[in-house]
Amino acid sequence: MNDHVRVRADDWGQDGVDTDVPNAARMYDYYLGGLHNFPADREMAQRVVGAYPALPGVLQLNRAFLRRAVRYLVRQGIRQFIDLGSGLPTVGNVHEVAQAEAPDARIVYVDVDPTAVLHSRLMLVGNPGATVLQLDLRNPEQVLSHRDLRWQIDLSQPVALLTVAVMHFIGDADDPVGIMGAYGAEVASGSYMVLSHASGDNEPEAAEKITALYARTGNPMYFRPRAEIEAIFGDFELVPPGLVVPNEWHPELADAPLAEIGNVSGYCGVARKP
Ligand SMILES: C[S@@+](CC[C@H](N)C(=O)[O-])C[C@H]1O[C@@H](n2cnc3c(N)ncnc32)[C@H](O)[C@@H]1O
Repeated sequence: MNDHVRVRADDWGQDGVDTDVPNAARMYDYYLGGLHNFPADREMAQRVVGAYPALPGVLQLNRAFLRRAVRYLVRQGIRQFIDLGSGLPTVGNVHEVAQAEAPDARIVYVDVDPTAVLHSRLMLVGNPGATVLQLDLRNPEQVLSHRDLRWQIDLSQPVALLTVAVMHFIGDADDPVGIMGAYGAEVASGSYMVLSHASGDNEPEAAEKITALYARTGNPMYFRPRAEIEAIFGDFELVPPGLVVPNEWHPELADAPLAEIGNVSGYCGVARKP
């Protein structure tokens, strides 16, 4: 990929974006082959891939899980999606998958990163069923009471709360279980939570190295054991097949054959509010 087609810092035109500090949203974009990243992001991302060469493949599997989960939920009748930590737009975004199955589906993307929000906003021009908000997901009350969210989402009806590859950026001090519990308390019975989360259970050495590298970015990362990840679902009940490695979650819903990679450092699952 040629550097001249990548974004340049002086083209960015965004206040408050420090392009010298590696950033999780832009590093993730780099792993997925995107163009919205800078030299500091690429250098750190290359170090992380050096420590864990399977990472880009794992993240493709994460995106593939996200698409299957959205497809599954639309088929359960869900028409409202709140995507917390939605990231930079990439192939197969939530609104594309959901609205392809159900044109009346409504989506609110939430991300704290100004770059992710700017590019999501550009992508959503002309789509009245989708909105993006620049907010910190650690403030559930602020997110759920936002006027633009309420315009799009009727909280008296079931919604899907998506927290995909993001809660591992929330430290224990911020209480991930409490945060998702606060969202869960405000949504209707029959709502769902979609979660994927990095874990060191299968590859502890890689997790240790990645944790050390991310500690030097603006977004430290927290790998968690399976039981702590499952706890984030709170009183939502996991639907079959439960909390599993990505390829084991409803592979029959895939839009393309799933790549096979051995051990995967993460779990994913979908749970329903009784
Ligand atoms: C690895 S990306 C995941 C993107 C997408 N959910 C996916 O799975 O493809 C993590 C995203 O979470 C966002 N994020 C991290 N902490 C956040 C917070 N406190 N509030 C909102 N977004 C956050 C980052 O900016 C980044 O865009």
